[in-house]
Amino acid sequence: MDTRHCEKLPKVLTFSFTANNAQNESKPVKLIAAACNNMGIGLNGYLPWRLPNEFKYLLDKITTVTQPGKKNLIVWGRSSFETFDEKLLPLRNCIIVVLSRTLRSLPNHVHYICKNEEEALQLASTPPLNEEIESIWSLGGVESYRTLMQHPWCNQIYFTKIMADFKCDTFFPDFDREVFKIVEGYPGVPAEIQEENGIKYVFQLYQRDQTNEINQGY
Ligand SMILES: NC(=O)c1ccc[n+]([C@@H]2O[C@H](COP(=O)([O-])OP(=O)(O)OC[C@H]3O[C@@H](n4cnc5c(N)ncnc54)[C@H](OP(=O)(O)O)[C@@H]3O)[C@@H](O)[C@H]2O)c1
Repeated sequence: MDTRHCEKLPKVLTFSFTANNAQNESKPVKLIAAACNNMGIGLNGYLPWRLPNEFKYLLDKITTVTQPGKKNLIVWGRSSFETFDEKLLPLRNCIIVVLSRTLRSLPNHVHYICKNEEEALQLASTPPLNEEIESIWSLGGVESYRTLMQHPWCNQIYFTKIMADFKCDTFFPDFDREVFKIVEGYPGVPAEIQEENGIKYVFQLYQRDQTNEINQGY
């Protein structure tokens, strides 16, 4: 397989540059994560729990496009990608970017390697992919969640609150709940408490508060 690195793109980019550059078509950036009571998301490189229906929810969200022919750009930290079940790849309607500073060749099913989040956003918002990409989904891990949630294009966090305690070594970053506010009754986000394998959890949707955006000058 050939190697497609984002490094062919301009190297020095800042968030304010891309957010305000008229040539860059902004794309909605969405985070999707599940975290338990202590905000833990991982242990020893894997998910601390086994919740097949919760996982199906994630797959459904990231592979859904509203317009025929469009695709979503999936942004994955290298470790999170490597522990994803390869049997589920390729993902329908998805173009996969892995973030890495070390990879030199494309793993199977990966379309691009980017050296940072900004390169991935640039890739999605400029030719040739800008016509094709509908949304950008961040599937973690921690560093990319933290960086992308601060980006002005990030408008939603799909968050599964797992109502249980698990030993974890990886944690979802704190986010400002004055900026991202929970939306009740959002379409496609069941409000009822779910239960699998004796573990209760609830799907939540946090949306960037438009008033805050205006206040921050985005
Ligand atoms: N519960 C959930 O929703 C959820 C979601 C995602 C992950 N997880 C869990 O979280 C753990 C993995 O997350 P993690 O944070 O440890 O690792 P990760 O972010 O998935 O992978 C870390 C690696 O990705 C690359 N990377 C990450 N951010 C980068 C950036 N900004 N620029 C360039 N490269 C970047 C680096 O690769 P190189 O070393 O190649 O440079 C880094 O070593 C696992 O336990 C996984 O199961 C849980």
